[in-house]
Amino acid sequence: MAETPLQGQVSIVTGASQGIGRAVALRLAQLGSAVVVAARNQAGLEAVVHEIEQSGGRALAVRTDVRSPEAVAKLAAAALQSFGRIDILVNNAGIGHFGSPLHEMPPEAFAATMETNLGAVYLAIRAVAPHLIQRRCGHIINIASLAGHNPLPGGAAYAASKAALHGLSVSVAEELRGYGIRVSLVCPGSVDTDLSPDLVGGKDRGKMLRPDDIAHVVAMLATQTSQSFVSEVLIRPTLKP
Ligand SMILES: NC(=O)c1ccc[n+]([C@@H]2O[C@H](COP(=O)([O-])OP(=O)(O)OC[C@H]3O[C@@H](n4cnc5c(N)ncnc54)[C@H](OP(=O)(O)O)[C@@H]3O)[C@@H](O)[C@H]2O)c1
Repeated sequence: MAETPLQGQVSIVTGASQGIGRAVALRLAQLGSAVVVAARNQAGLEAVVHEIEQSGGRALAVRTDVRSPEAVAKLAAAALQSFGRIDILVNNAGIGHFGSPLHEMPPEAFAATMETNLGAVYLAIRAVAPHLIQRRCGHIINIASLAGHNPLPGGAAYAASKAALHGLSVSVAEELRGYGIRVSLVCPGSVDTDLSPDLVGGKDRGKMLRPDDIAHVVAMLATQTSQSFVSEVLIRPTLKP
C-alpha cells in the first residue's frame, strides 16, 4: 500500500498548470494531501486535477493571477471553503525574461518579473499566514533558483527576484517559527521546462534537472518531522548539462 504521510493535510501550489508546479502538485497528492492548484491556464489546471482524481486523490483548480491581491485572497478562501484548512503553501509560480542585458529590458518586463516572482509570494503569505498562525502549524515552501546565488547574464531581473526571495524567506521564517510554522527555500539549477530554453541556451537538456527532481525535494521537506525544518536546499543535476 502506498505511504500517505500527508493524509488529511491541504496544500496550495501556485503555478501548477505545468512544469515544476504540476509535478509538485501530483507528488503532494500521492502523499495524501488534498491539493489546490492555482495558475491562469484553466485547462492546464483542470488536467492536473483530473490526473489527481484519477489516482484517487482530492484536488481543486482555482484560476488565479498570483499578481492580484484579490485573486490570491480568493484562492486562500477557496481552499478553506473546500477543504477546511491549509497546511502547505508552495509558492512556485514564476516567469523569466531572458536573453538581453538589464539596460535593454523594458520596464514592463522588469515589473512583471518582480511582481510574479517576488510580489506574489508576499501576497500568498499575506493571505495564508493568518490561518497558519491561528492553527500554529504549517509549511511555506518557496521555489527560488540557483540564479539567486550565481550571476545570470541576460537574466539580471530574474536573478534579482530570486535573490530577493531568499531575503524574504529567511526573514519570514524568523517571523513565523514561533508559531510552529516552517519556511523553506528551494533553489533548483536548470530544469527541463518551458521556462528554461531561453535561460540555458545551448545546454544538454537530457542532463538538466526534471520537474520530478524538484517535486521529490518538496516532498522531503513536507514530510520532515515537525520539530525541525530545512531553510534552504540547492539542487544540482548530477551530470553537468
Ligand atoms: N525551469 C528552470 O530551469 C527553473 C530553475 C530554477 C527555478 N525555477 C522556478 O521554478 C518555478 C516554476 O517554473 P517552471 O520551470 O515550472 O516554469 P513553467 O513551466 O513556465 O511554469 C511556470 C508556472 O507559473 C505559472 N505562472 C506564471 N505567471 C503566473 C501568474 N501571473 N499567475 C499565476 N500563475 C503564473 C504558469 O501558469 P499560467 O501560465 O497558467 O499562469 C506556470 O504554471 C518558477 O518560480 C521558476 O522561476 C525554474
